[in-house]
Amino acid sequence: MQTINANGANIPALGFGTFRMPDEDVHRILPQALALGFRHVDTAQIYKNEASVGDVIANSGIARGDIFLTTKVWVDEYKHDKFIASVDESLKKLKTDYVDLLLLHWPKSDVPLAERIGALNEVHKAGKVRNIGISNFNVALLEESVKLSDAPIANNQIEYHPYLDQKKVIEAARKHGISTTAYFLMADGKVPSDPVLNDIGAKHGKTAAQVALRWAVQQPDIIALSKTATESRLKENFDIFDFELSSGEMTAIHGLAKSGSRIVNPGHLAPEWDN
Ligand SMILES: NC(=O)c1ccc[n+]([C@@H]2O[C@H](COP(=O)([O-])OP(=O)(O)OC[C@H]3O[C@@H](n4cnc5c(N)ncnc54)[C@H](OP(=O)(O)O)[C@@H]3O)[C@@H](O)[C@H]2O)c1
Repeated sequence: MQTINANGANIPALGFGTFRMPDEDVHRILPQALALGFRHVDTAQIYKNEASVGDVIANSGIARGDIFLTTKVWVDEYKHDKFIASVDESLKKLKTDYVDLLLLHWPKSDVPLAERIGALNEVHKAGKVRNIGISNFNVALLEESVKLSDAPIANNQIEYHPYLDQKKVIEAARKHGISTTAYFLMADGKVPSDPVLNDIGAKHGKTAAQVALRWAVQQPDIIALSKTATESRLKENFDIFDFELSSGEMTAIHGLAKSGSRIVNPGHLAPEWDN
């Protein structure tokens, strides 16, 4: 699989997401995802499934070094001592002595950004975390994080799909060598039934879901996350590296973006968005 190089991180361009995936589903579907070839797994403290993700990876027969594993520190754990303890707890649950990428899950917090970025750097220096990053950050907070951090910021994970224009924050990240990971690429079910995406897919023998995933990974410095608990969709979502969208098709998909298309916007966690 293609990888994205970002400030030292080498991130597989397609990752398997585990949001809203209870332990039973993780135990059932993640082994199949790994068997199919997924080598990038995305979890978070708040998903409450780190232990099952850790079990599956440990029992997969795949070398730990061959899997890119991301977790995210939840906002309740942002104060320095809690932060460090929470990372140790995550590593214990994940049954590993390091994660490949550790993100601050959401920006809004009473804990100063300097303290949070400092804690990210501390666990990075200690070797518990290979790369550090942020999630749901806007341009201003991304720029501030870059200034505050000794270790380079490798990634900003954000909502991104054909209906949501994220040019500003992606460009700002790119300027600093920071990659962007796209979540919610199915746009809450809107993508699979989209006529434009279905028409483009038909020309390639692909589904609308595959077109959206392909559209993401065909952009420089973009990583796509895909979540499914449905076995039949696993292969569909993985098979996006054997076709190419034309520049006209890429433009047509970008053209689907319109204001008011943001889906994930929790007021107590979200920053002031750039668009
Ligand atoms: N940083 C953050 O704040 C944040 C926020 C949200 C998500 N994430 C991460 O990003 C990952 C992806 O986001 P997501 O899980 O919300 O969304 P997603 O990948 O857009 O998938 C959402 C839903 O679409 C369905 N789906 C998947 N593939 C499909 C296909 N080929 N055809 C039709 N439907 C399909 C799935 O249903 P079934 O499971 O029933 O198949 C899934 O529940 C998450 O799992 C998580 O790791 C991060």
